[in-house]
Amino acid sequence: MRRIGVITSGGDAPGTNACVRVLVRRCLAAGIDPVGIFDSWDGLLAGTVRVLEREDVVGIVQTAGTILRSARSRLFLEPGDAERALEALAAHGVEGLIVVGGNGSLTAASILAESGFPVVGVPKTIDNDVPGTDTTVGFRTAVQVATDALDNLRATAESHSRVMVLEVMGRNAGWIGVESAIAGGADLALVPERAFRMEDVYDRLRKRHEVHGRNYSIVVVAEGARDEGGILSPVASAKDRLGRPRLEGVGMVLAREIESRLGYPSRCTVLGYLQRSTAPVAADRILATRLSDAAFELLLAGESGVMAGLEGGQVSPVDLHGIAGGNRRISDADLRLADVFG
Ligand code: F6P
Repeated sequence: MRRIGVITSGGDAPGTNACVRVLVRRCLAAGIDPVGIFDSWDGLLAGTVRVLEREDVVGIVQTAGTILRSARSRLFLEPGDAERALEALAAHGVEGLIVVGGNGSLTAASILAESGFPVVGVPKTIDNDVPGTDTTVGFRTAVQVATDALDNLRATAESHSRVMVLEVMGRNAGWIGVESAIAGGADLALVPERAFRMEDVYDRLRKRHEVHGRNYSIVVVAEGARDEGGILSPVASAKDRLGRPRLEGVGMVLAREIESRLGYPSRCTVLGYLQRSTAPVAADRILATRLSDAAFELLLAGESGVMAGLEGGQVSPVDLHGIAGGNRRISDADLRLADVFG
């Protein structure tokens, strides 16, 4: 191969630049042109494409975001889109492609691979919900950011005798919610995988305050969490480019309901994009480097339609067919562990 394209797609995640860095370095060392495709698939069609140089990736392993920029693109949603992408790749002389992205981007990669173009994926999303891999680039940093927030919120919760609700990201999967709740010692974690009853939330908090004599509580709620009665619906109705509702506001509603029902002063903090835009922790830099290095090897070895996944600590090729459109959700065992401390 003389030219390998690199594209970063979907929501940005800490560690993405570490992916780009190793891919550029491996290409240059092998005498291959690394072609940066900017602005995701939209940029491929618009022609924001250029050969990357060593200088482009100096000092980026420790930075959040992506030097290639990203987008939630609509390419590959319509029949005929793969042909448009193939034409654009051919116009830039790209002979193989590495796609760094989450479920949507890896689904697009799978469609492109089916049309015969050599494509290998790298799983990257703070949500940690890509099937076929134990973890994804960006997740560890998001958990650390949420854990730090919980550690800090405890001071105000305790000083003012309040219930502190922390709203974290997680549209379909509550990985950030559950893992940060375990690490940050939260009293309750509410996640999309398990619809809950508001009465159970009240009982749990009442027991903590009235039986165990605590003056404060810490609750983590994922943005996609829902209660059985439908009280906790997102406040905003705006949609993103893919037509998905923007999830905002469940934490505010939850804090308001807790305060009005139990009389405990309650406040909500929405952690939001700090989970995505914080500098990657070392574990994400290393994971990004390992997976992207493996993706490069796989592409050169003639593999296509796979991603470099981490299974049982080992990096191995995972068929993209089994990933397309899927979601890796939290197991009952993980949920049980978070419950132990409530
Ligand atoms: O990257 C996935 C995610 O973190 C989801 O948890 C969240 O719903 C979404 O990003 C919001 O991203 P944006 O506002 O960029 O579409």
